[in-house]
Amino acid sequence: MTEGYLSINGRRKLSGETRVQGCKNAALPCLAACLLCEKGEACIENCPRLTDVENTAQILETLGAVCCFDESGHAVTVKAENVFGTAIDNEMMNRMRSSVLFMGALLSRTGEADLGYPGGCEIGSRPIDMHIRAFRSLGVDIEEEGGIIRCRLRSKIKPCQISLLCPSVGATENIMLLTARSEGETVIRNAAREPEIVDLQNFLNAMGADIRGAGSDIIVINGAPSLRGAEFRIMPDRIAALTYMAAAAACGGKIFLRGVNSEHLAICMSVLRDMGASLRRADGGLTVSMSGRPRAVNMIKTLYYPGFPTDAQPAFMAAATVADGTTVFVESIFENRFRHAPELKKLGADIDVNMCQATVRGKESLSGAEVRASDLRGGAAMVIGGLIADGTTRVYGVPHIERGYENISRDFSDLGADIRMIY
Ligand code: UD1
Repeated sequence: MTEGYLSINGRRKLSGETRVQGCKNAALPCLAACLLCEKGEACIENCPRLTDVENTAQILETLGAVCCFDESGHAVTVKAENVFGTAIDNEMMNRMRSSVLFMGALLSRTGEADLGYPGGCEIGSRPIDMHIRAFRSLGVDIEEEGGIIRCRLRSKIKPCQISLLCPSVGATENIMLLTARSEGETVIRNAAREPEIVDLQNFLNAMGADIRGAGSDIIVINGAPSLRGAEFRIMPDRIAALTYMAAAAACGGKIFLRGVNSEHLAICMSVLRDMGASLRRADGGLTVSMSGRPRAVNMIKTLYYPGFPTDAQPAFMAAATVADGTTVFVESIFENRFRHAPELKKLGADIDVNMCQATVRGKESLSGAEVRASDLRGGAAMVIGGLIADGTTRVYGVPHIERGYENISRDFSDLGADIRMIY
């Protein structure tokens, strides 16, 4: 069977509007949280249609929950009154990083969890030591045997104060999931502050939990013994929005992104303004206009929220390849997150990578070539590269992109690009 690819005829200005999908990184923890709902149904709206969401629903079903998507595929109802499974096989765990959140959710619900190591994008070593340390201090026995992590709750969860060594998104969410139904007060210090964590807090609270502080670096969880069904609407995907915004800055033109929450984008909006884009909030969305070549910004350093998101670094690097001047990217979250750089070089980009730093000397233009997505956000950078380049670009490795973008060719077509999926 031949491999499908995205075919892009580049060098067109963008023009048009698209609606930004629901947020993958909020939907996945909220779906895992549905496992805690003993009574009634949890209904999640604005859920993006993604392979990661399908895989999460499959894990829920393996454990005994029933998941029903509506016709649009954007609303999912989860009934988890009968949870009988306590193990998730390696193959399922391996499909994505967020499967690790079932450690907290399953332990909370059943007191047991046997899991393989989570997969996800290869962007550096992605240990789960902080999750394990926090779980142990909450009273969970954890052993590893033949690649399987065996977790057993000794008796009840022992609420405590947890200080994370760094503000890990996954560890913060996992602790919230484990403790949402425990008795007593757990405090997470140096918690991650990402908006997706606020979404998880709001969903758990809608189910009856008492969690405060998400969005700040101290989260206080007072468990509720049982959680009930609730309806919840997932926030818009800030990384998908930033992908389209970076593309508009690189290609020029004027686009309208419907449904964006610009409060989540502050730092990147300021970078885009420095690059010469004009941004205007209106009518439940954001207009991005750009004329001429983007200006280089001296340095873009990825940081924990509210700093510049590591997930947006590849898209901004693609835009920087045609900026007027040199942009230095410093990646401080993941140590192997420049795998898109050699692929952008195939399009003619001038990039030097040295450890966690990439120097991008902007050029007047790029030219079409065959490139390969090696991870989700790196794949988005390939698409932007293709939109910028003269001639035709083929982007292979599309399943990586489909893990996080509902339909990137539809969205960019709506924004005036000449892009098609070829099977
Ligand atoms: C989440 C996002 C991902 C994003 C990342 C950082 C989801 C599903 N994924 O990933 O898209 O790129 O946040 O914003 O929401 N670390 C440890 N030990 C641990 C846990 C993490 O050393 O136990 C390190 C990681 O290697 C990394 C840093 O902490 O260097 C941040 O990782 P973390 O915030 O946990 O990222 P994820 O939750 O995996």
